[in-house]
Amino acid sequence: MKIITSIAEMQQVARVARREGGRIALVPTMGYLHDGHASLMREGRRRGELLVTSIFINPTQFGAGEDFDSYPRDFAGDTVLAAAAGVDLIFAPTPREMYPDGYQTWVDVAKISLPLCGAGRPGHFRGVATVVTKLFNAVQPDVALFGKKDFQQLAVIRRMTADLNLPVEIVGMPIVREVDGVAMSSRNAYLSAEERQHALCLSRALTRAREMYRQGGNTPAVLQAGVLAVLGAESGVAVEYVEFRHSGTLEEVATVGDDTLLALAVKIGKTRLIDNCILGEEN
Ligand code: PAJ
Repeated sequence: MKIITSIAEMQQVARVARREGGRIALVPTMGYLHDGHASLMREGRRRGELLVTSIFINPTQFGAGEDFDSYPRDFAGDTVLAAAAGVDLIFAPTPREMYPDGYQTWVDVAKISLPLCGAGRPGHFRGVATVVTKLFNAVQPDVALFGKKDFQQLAVIRRMTADLNLPVEIVGMPIVREVDGVAMSSRNAYLSAEERQHALCLSRALTRAREMYRQGGNTPAVLQAGVLAVLGAESGVAVEYVEFRHSGTLEEVATVGDDTLLALAVKIGKTRLIDNCILGEEN
């Protein structure tokens, strides 16, 4: 497995791969890889002749006071997981390589970036959209894979790719969970044993909402009350948002249906966790 840190070298490798007729698949990550990342890589392996994963903790998507400095890192462990998942090449630029002195260009996906995580993390999706555009320009993928764990991020990237006519197919992949239902996340590493127990309430709340929906609950207010009852019963859990939105546009809905997104964000101690489901789907 090759490791490249320079954008120019990455572009050169991409040019050669494309000249030889190979499709390039990209899985962008911030590292500290887990089985959720690996599921994207395994699907990327099926879809491309050259499978690239990027590992870059992108400073521009972290707000002041967020966890950029403490974000978990384990490059050696990441190379082992990536190799086992079939990755050919890790692209791991430095912050300076991506944002040299004088950098001043941003990709801002306007409306869809505003609600949900965008409301609590202003500027976050501008950083994500910008870095993903730059990663696309460095790696020149035919297909890029993203997890539905970060549902709004996937929606922002789909919108951006369409709006800017980027020649990249965007693939959304199911949320991978631990056996007890907690969605895998690099940030789970922050949780103490006790907080990890409290974190079970997120997936439990989603299950409760889907049950209520199946039993005829059809307004956001009714389902939200059910979700808040589950989250509120857990000590040490502060709710940031519980929202029901159209899964394509992320606009608010008056009544819920099979394709309605339920998205939630909570803080457990200092750790911010998100989870979501589509009401008519199982996962
Ligand atoms: P990161 O949090 O490392 O996630 C990388 C990719 O893995 C994202 O597409 C994310 O949705 C997916 N992922 C994470 N946990 C998952 C899970 N439990 N199941 C399925 N997929 C999961 O998301 C980012 O990095 C960054 O914002 C990035 C897109 C790399 C831009 O910096």
